[in-house]
Amino acid sequence: MAVHEFKPGIYSVGANDWDRRLFDALVPLPDGTSYNSYLVKGSEKTAVIDAVDPTKSGEWIANIKKLGIGSIDYIISSHAEQDHSGAIPDLLAQFPGAKVVTNDKCKGFLQDLLSIPAGKFITVDDGELLTLGGRTLEFIFTPWVHWPETLCTYLREDKILFSCDFFGSHLATSGLFVKDVPKVLEDARRYFAEIMMPFRLAIRKNVQKIEALDIAYIAPSHGPVHDKPGIIISAYKDWISDRVENTVVLAYVSMHGSTGKMASYLSDALIDRGIEVKLFNLTETDIGQLAMALVDAATIVLGTPTVLAGPHPAAVYAAILANALKPRVKYAAVFGSYGWGGQTVDVIINNMKNLKVEFLEPVLTKGFPLEEDFRKLARMADEIAARHREL
Ligand code: FEO
Repeated sequence: MAVHEFKPGIYSVGANDWDRRLFDALVPLPDGTSYNSYLVKGSEKTAVIDAVDPTKSGEWIANIKKLGIGSIDYIISSHAEQDHSGAIPDLLAQFPGAKVVTNDKCKGFLQDLLSIPAGKFITVDDGELLTLGGRTLEFIFTPWVHWPETLCTYLREDKILFSCDFFGSHLATSGLFVKDVPKVLEDARRYFAEIMMPFRLAIRKNVQKIEALDIAYIAPSHGPVHDKPGIIISAYKDWISDRVENTVVLAYVSMHGSTGKMASYLSDALIDRGIEVKLFNLTETDIGQLAMALVDAATIVLGTPTVLAGPHPAAVYAAILANALKPRVKYAAVFGSYGWGGQTVDVIINNMKNLKVEFLEPVLTKGFPLEEDFRKLARMADEIAARHREL
């Protein structure tokens, strides 16, 4: 990533990762990502806010050196996950006088993950200030966005909130600021769905906390800087609300066509009843798209054949994923086909225990679905439509 001057004395010095397609060996990144790091100069001290993934360490340090920086006093660590911390030891090797500034919990993680010696740290409390000379950093603890130690740094004089993962988007980009608002919101929604959604209640408190600040810019550590922060704050407030849409996420897998036929019938029946359907064939689905659909859907329906006495592993995977992401869905249902028996429905339900949902009557068919099975699916669609009308 090129060095960008954010404002005089404030620079973006991080790195793009254009080709990265998977995060945490789980989350698809169709647009790559960036590891943003910011350098802030005061009249007396210089701070770097967050590091980069260790794979981009050389690029990051070269960016800092391009600015002719002779010394770094502070490395602010907002979050110990390695995409923002992994290169800290390399910067400490280049600037041995620098101190890592973070909270006590993050210090512990950094010692565990990166073996940074205890003497390298300055620990701060929530609300504590650090002056750089003419510029003041205020540390604002925002736990569980998305680890327990996460914090934001507010640069008071310039009204910049450095928010790390909070309000971020996995998007490699050549510019500093948001240009294409719909695109950034789509990637931010994906980011929220994949990473933040399980922590909606904690995020509510943290959004309230940062809304008390006078913010001109939100500078996350993934994706572009928000120069109209109200847009991303409003989006987050919607995503963490209890509002659900008249939408069914219908995710299915089919081995020989029976469950696929049922999925197709149920999808049409729901649409006929005025419900929006987001249909996913789990053998081909980008799980990020599935997660995004779950952000505000009222209902999730899983379709699966019975294989080896239980649900297809792809359906179990979807159930476990939804269970981990904890979307605000209100209703759930299972349908599918079987040959000679099994525990399909029970296994799916047992894997979705985190979801506070009402499970509707399942529809299982022996072999290929017949008229009676389609009538049961029509009744399932009626039930879902009735529940949605009550919302
Ligand atoms: Fe971008 Fe939680 O790391």
